Amino acid sequence: MFCTEDAVRIAGQRQPKVIFDFIEGASGREVAATRNQSRFDEITLQQRVMENVDRRNLSKTFLGQKYNLPFGIAPMGMCNLAWPDTDSALAQAATNYNIPICLSSAASSTIKEMRDWAGENAWFQLYVGGSMELSLELVERARTEGYKTLVLTVDVPQVSRRLRDLRNGFTMPFRLGPRLLWDFATHPRWSLTSIWHGAPSPKNFKLGKNGTHFDRNASRAGANWNFLEKLRASWTGNLVIKGVTSARDAIRIKQAGADAIYVSNHGGRQLDSAPAAIDALPKIRNAVGADYPLLFDSGVRNGEDIVKALAMGADFVMIGRPMLFAMGADGAKGLNSLIKIFAEDTSLTLAQTGLNDITAVSPDILSNNTSAVEQLQQPLLKTATS
Ligand SMILES: Cc1cc2nc3c(=O)[nH]c(=O)nc-3n(C[C@H](O)[C@H](O)[C@H](O)COP(=O)(O)O)c2cc1C
Repeated sequence: MFCTEDAVRIAGQRQPKVIFDFIEGASGREVAATRNQSRFDEITLQQRVMENVDRRNLSKTFLGQKYNLPFGIAPMGMCNLAWPDTDSALAQAATNYNIPICLSSAASSTIKEMRDWAGENAWFQLYVGGSMELSLELVERARTEGYKTLVLTVDVPQVSRRLRDLRNGFTMPFRLGPRLLWDFATHPRWSLTSIWHGAPSPKNFKLGKNGTHFDRNASRAGANWNFLEKLRASWTGNLVIKGVTSARDAIRIKQAGADAIYVSNHGGRQLDSAPAAIDALPKIRNAVGADYPLLFDSGVRNGEDIVKALAMGADFVMIGRPMLFAMGADGAKGLNSLIKIFAEDTSLTLAQTGLNDITAVSPDILSNNTSAVEQLQQPLLKTATS
């Protein structure tokens, strides 16, 4: 396995189709998901020569914590479907490489388990779904366990229609029919190990005081402006708002006192006509100013993409699907390989662009000046000349 695309291919052979499609799939015709990646390919970086780039630093501080790499693991529900024990493997990797891992509300491991495994590197992502009471209980549990960073996801007012899941009959828990049984029977490695480890379920919801179950299709629109105000008043740790692509929303979120904005279109899993997240990024950077912390995901598939996202205005980058494909391809070994590949690729990109420190990445290294990029570069040029 030498790149994300290898991981996708191998995971596609080893995971049942219903699982692979759940991970790779997106909303509608999957235009947004495709565009997320194709827009990355259109961005070009300016190669620089004859710089002293023998030694290169990849470590970055984000929201007061120093990480060894400029990227972390995005929140994803039901990761243990990708391969048994994915959550603990992700946590182990986050500890080994000193990168953040964000546990989803809909995770197949508990808030406590993740904190025990990943310590200070664990963040918690909150969905305000179905029951407000349970959502607040999740925040309380995160606080009790000592989480410092809470990520509130706001781009799922309603779960979108994901055609692959509908066609495959993907439901939680599984409703086993002949097609699903055949799918599992023809992927014995995944199926036997999954049977051995027990079927994954959204564990945090099961533990709710009232025994509330997670309803994937319930509205998650409780995460509104009013809720943000209350959450900001009660959560004293870092508060990050995830799923923002509008500059106007970004300004309001900053005004509401959030510590960071997480620019993302959910990997194209929500609005199929959404702009590519990477196109929204420079606009949001312009709107919130140079110093406001921005996190980014959606469509990042290699180290060059990471450097591009940083150059387009992100302070830190999160990786979604590739982590689950790496697990599906070769379990924890695959995950470790892919993280190493991402790190090496990022470092090599620094060398090619004449830089030896990830913190030196700026819009200056972008070579195709679209208007958004020009806007980003203008203040930079002004500061450089003043
Ligand atoms: C299988 C899967 C489950 C996800 N579950 C969540 C979730 O529970 N909460 C959340 O905020 N985002 C969730 N996301 C979105 C990711 O956090 C991230 O925004 C997205 O994967 C980025 O796109 P990319 O994977 O194409 O790079 C999920 C994504 C996938 C692929």
